[in-house]
Amino acid sequence: MSKKRILIFASGRGSNAEAIYKATIEDKINGVVVGVICDHKEAFVIKRASMWKVPVTIIEKKNFVNKMDFDEALVVAAKSYTPDLICLAGYMRICGADLIHEFPNKIINIHPALLPSFRGLHAQRQALEAGVKVAGCTVHFVGTGLDDGPIITQTVVPVYDHDTEETLSSRILEKEHPTYVAAVAAFCADKLTVSGNRVLGIHGEEN
Ligand code: GRF
Repeated sequence: MSKKRILIFASGRGSNAEAIYKATIEDKINGVVVGVICDHKEAFVIKRASMWKVPVTIIEKKNFVNKMDFDEALVVAAKSYTPDLICLAGYMRICGADLIHEFPNKIINIHPALLPSFRGLHAQRQALEAGVKVAGCTVHFVGTGLDDGPIITQTVVPVYDHDTEETLSSRILEKEHPTYVAAVAAFCADKLTVSGNRVLGIHGEEN
């Protein structure tokens, strides 16, 4: 089976992007990272990509008069990489509908909560405020709404009495990397089937 072309969208630190890249070079994923699209020219993920010798396209919203033009530029850039899979990895924007329609069931995202709970920003803080006893992360296909779309896999972590947003975030992040790698590996091995709102071919993990 030929290697899948993986395009990463990221906005910041890029630790999930790094985990995916590392798994491709270690042959844990049947894929190759062909590019990174980044919406912040100062983002650390750009430095990572240059170490990997992977091309980066920087597209900043402030350089466009409106969201429509910005979204269109993202679609054009994404298509130029002819990706089989787009991984949103700490990409802090909602994908435009055109991008989602251009790549149906080919865009996946990681969210630091057990969806459908705690969508949007500060998911870990939302979990603490809600008083839940378990938290975790979710990899899902990207739908048109905020953090929605069929769930691929999830990993659960405990919430402890002494947790702060920082300690819970770092416990979840540690699980995000293997969880995202497992989801990308399953996708690239053609193991996933989307059936309505369910994704078959992979299961979730407890801590
Ligand atoms: C992760 O917690 C991810 O779940 C969320 O944003 C954070 C990005 O971290 N969407 P990184 O850039 O992958 O290090």
